[in-house]
Amino acid sequence: MQASLDAEVHRRTASAPGRVNLIGDHTDYTGGLALPAALPWRTTVVATPLEARVAVTTSLEGKQYFDEVALSGDASSLPAHLQLAQFLAHSSAAGASLSVTSTVPVGAGLSSSAAYCVAVALALGISGSPWEIARICQAAEAAAGANVGLLDQIAALCGSANNAVLIDFTAETTENVTLPAGTELIIVDSGERRSLANSAYGERRAACEQAEEVIGPLSRASVTDLTALKDLVVQQRARHVISENLRVRQAAIAAKAEDAQSFGLLMNDSHESLSSDFSVSTPGIDALCHRLRSEAGIYGARMTGGGFGGCIIALAEHGAAARLDLNCTMWVVAPSAGASIDSDDMGPTSR
Ligand code: GLA
Repeated sequence: MQASLDAEVHRRTASAPGRVNLIGDHTDYTGGLALPAALPWRTTVVATPLEARVAVTTSLEGKQYFDEVALSGDASSLPAHLQLAQFLAHSSAAGASLSVTSTVPVGAGLSSSAAYCVAVALALGISGSPWEIARICQAAEAAAGANVGLLDQIAALCGSANNAVLIDFTAETTENVTLPAGTELIIVDSGERRSLANSAYGERRAACEQAEEVIGPLSRASVTDLTALKDLVVQQRARHVISENLRVRQAAIAAKAEDAQSFGLLMNDSHESLSSDFSVSTPGIDALCHRLRSEAGIYGARMTGGGFGGCIIALAEHGAAARLDLNCTMWVVAPSAGASIDSDDMGPTSR
């Protein structure tokens, strides 16, 4: 009786958004720069205490799914969301019943997984600086087989309404950057799907590590260092990262100067670099980017996130999206607030 009463009373609700990266992809895991924005779509998690297990009820598109897993033990054969929940509950040393609802599009490269991890972590009471919380969520992803960087988690945690967020992954700092007035962000879903864990993401990371063994941290290297790299593929991968970090810096400056034109051109250059030097685009996504750039009022368009499918982000003049006829799912989005604890009855005084 007491237990169920407790479960009723001690509950915590937290939510976290998906993200779109405006520029700076495949720079996070070498301590570089990125400029994402949190999205208006959120994953909301209500946690209530439960003895030694994690129960997850997910409500998606009008359907409910229920799964349960022990707080520790082998979960590797279970679906990723359960592995993530188990890892995070184990880290917080608390069993929990988690009720999950989400409006973040799944599998579109808009970081539904980071939104889920961050919301679960906060709902479980995992606390600390955004970087500490992000690292626990990153470890959960790694345990579930996705060796990702910190971009998605920091964007979810540090997002800000009406601002993009300039992230420096070496200094571990964030700075709000307002986009030029009179612009809008358009996300176009290519419809192509590929999971990061099963993609060449790990290979790209390995190539960057190989480059760093020769020329040191890519976040500090310059294009003149590239000649020291004898493997031409490694050289291309490093060239992307070094040039992308420069572009992020220039994009932040362009945004502050209200220079949408320059910002857009940097986005286009970023895409070409991701496509030719980093080889993480697809012919379909390249074609969509070119098509978008030929439309009136589009300043720039690029793939966003890990690549191999997913979405395109475009910066456009206000009202441009309404004129587009692309035969793809498309959204106009405003940069939105980061993760939050929305209600908390689980504090030490009420325990
Ligand atoms: C995925 C990863 C991030 C980042 C991007 C590419 O979204 O989760 O850590 O590496 O790809 O920028």
